[in-house]
Amino acid sequence: MSDAIETRLTQLRSQLQKAAYAYYVLDAPFMEDAVYDQLYRELADLEAQYPQLITPDSPTQRVGDKPASQFTSVKHNIPLYSLENAFDFGELGQWEQKWQRALEGEVPHHSSYVCELKIDGSAIALTYENGLLVRGVTRGDGVTGEDITANIRTIRTIPLRLNLENPPPIVEVRGEAFLPLDTFEKINQEREKAGENLFANPRNAAAGTLRQLDARIVADRKLDFFAYTLHLPETEVQAQPMTQWEALELLQKIGFRVNPNRELCSDLQAVKTYFEKWDDGRKKLSYLTDGVVVKLNDFALQQALGFTQKFPRWAIALKYAAEEAPTVVKDIIVNVGRTGAVTPMAVMEPVQLAGTIVQRATLHNADRIQELDIRVGDTVVIRKAGEIIPEVLRVLPDLRPEKAIAYEFPQHCPECGSALVRPQGEVVARCVNSSCPAILRGSLVHWASRDALDIQGLGEKNVILLIDHGLVHSIADIYDLTVTQIEALPRLGQKSAEKLVEAIASSKNQDYARVLYGLGIRFVGKVNAEILAQNFSTLGQLQNATFAQLQGVYGIGEEIAQSVVDWFRVDGNQQLIAKLQLAGLNFAQTQTVSSQSNSHIAGKTFVITGTLPTLKRTEAADKIKAAGGKVTGSISKNTDYLVAGENAGSKLEKARQLGIQELTESELLDLLG
Ligand code: IVH
Repeated sequence: MSDAIETRLTQLRSQLQKAAYAYYVLDAPFMEDAVYDQLYRELADLEAQYPQLITPDSPTQRVGDKPASQFTSVKHNIPLYSLENAFDFGELGQWEQKWQRALEGEVPHHSSYVCELKIDGSAIALTYENGLLVRGVTRGDGVTGEDITANIRTIRTIPLRLNLENPPPIVEVRGEAFLPLDTFEKINQEREKAGENLFANPRNAAAGTLRQLDARIVADRKLDFFAYTLHLPETEVQAQPMTQWEALELLQKIGFRVNPNRELCSDLQAVKTYFEKWDDGRKKLSYLTDGVVVKLNDFALQQALGFTQKFPRWAIALKYAAEEAPTVVKDIIVNVGRTGAVTPMAVMEPVQLAGTIVQRATLHNADRIQELDIRVGDTVVIRKAGEIIPEVLRVLPDLRPEKAIAYEFPQHCPECGSALVRPQGEVVARCVNSSCPAILRGSLVHWASRDALDIQGLGEKNVILLIDHGLVHSIADIYDLTVTQIEALPRLGQKSAEKLVEAIASSKNQDYARVLYGLGIRFVGKVNAEILAQNFSTLGQLQNATFAQLQGVYGIGEEIAQSVVDWFRVDGNQQLIAKLQLAGLNFAQTQTVSSQSNSHIAGKTFVITGTLPTLKRTEAADKIKAAGGKVTGSISKNTDYLVAGENAGSKLEKARQLGIQELTESELLDLLG
């Protein structure tokens, strides 16, 4: 066997390792996938021919072919400590005082902090001997863990060989193995199909995956890893990093993926800024984080402080407010919204959740209630994601009181008593009585809301008062209200009555798009109301528009078009419009002649298709509209111009058949001046 083969093998391994590092760790690939695949195949073929030349760090050796029968317990060389938690900045401040006091008079006790995101996964300890990965162990109880080396080897961001010239005899690296969110969802979908239990969250899924006996399954699951701790032998004086910041950089250099969202902070104020920035930022990440780990940067100080029984004294986890919490259901009620949709809600013992106190959570609909089998008295887990109303995630059946009875969804509207309607195939039950007080209440609150007619002083409380005292039976009735009527209501004096009447009167000056939005037509939100107002400049035009005309408008889809047509067909809505018109509301687009109004564009109808070189289609549409043009979604005889980008399809063909003038993006920009 020639040396040439050995040389080739070494080159291939090194080349593939570099390519994988650039791809997985640096996110900066320099080799095409196909090239990588081919080199990999060459390596695998050569190794098949000369199995005696296979090395354990070869990229082909990531997945073993035999499932393990069990894991063996391994004692950690250095224990894996966990972290003390701080739940607010006050606790963080106390921690700072504590460590500063502990160091008083000893060494200089100033240090910056390294902030790292706290990755919600499983801690792993890796051992490298002479640069080669020999062991990967779970955290276990911190002293003893399980040897999961075969599974660890499947993680692409964990190097099998350290990128170090003269590696020390032993190197220990710690970090967090985790599952990216999209992978987590995919795994759960597959488990659901296979009738298996779902993983509750990505952390459990990662831990479960790491303890899979068959490494082939682990390889499929695409675990990932961020390194955060490096232990070099004390003899390595030269290479020894002096700070956590340097350690992280070194980790990255020797082949690990290190979380890029780290920051060096000079004081707690900067830590606070980092924490707040990532409270929002973390929602856009592809993995879960539940806090920020704050570490003293200076290793000399770390060493001077040492550890308690469980924690390092030089680090702390500042946690984000929990977004899931258990509580007890006191009642189940239903809420009737302005569209008549009936939403069941759980009324619960108040509980702190994501920084606010929560007492109600949505149960969505009757099907969801049945699925959960939620009962009054149950202990439930609720969750709040982003800004939305919290929801009930699951029931803890073991904590159910003995006499709890199954919930029955009401057949009648709790507000007006009329029978609820649930069309086949729909999950939502509705009250369809248009004079139901709940619907009127919701509609009026929406009408007065800030983005609609913006009537100050007409919030839910006053709306309820007006309706309960029989002063208002329709939205339009508010325009007949007098100061005398309002000041007679409980809690409302003359001053606030006058203010309210004035606010109602000035809402007549609001523009047509706001009025359209205020009407509460299903699917017509702020943006769609604006589009409709621009394309149908009077309510008469909108009312007479056919489904096809509506749908032809750029941005208006089938669902919206149908909803608008349906809305105008209802008698009660026609009466409402008539009354509002009489009251003097704005039902036409005021012609604001834009300063950019441009004779080439104004009054012309444009269609945009394909991918434009620099503008998004919506941006191009906005420019055209700003210059007084119209943008529609389909080509017809009335189209003046087709703006066509790359991959323009059937619209371009049709435009050519009709002899419509074509424009490129730059020609459009020329026209726009
Ligand atoms: S440092 C002695 N850094 O959080 C050092 N831990 O609640 C201890 N974790 O067991 C760990 N991200 O599993 C550290 N950037 C990070 C981390 C992190 C996640 C986990 C780790 C630890 C747990 C403590």
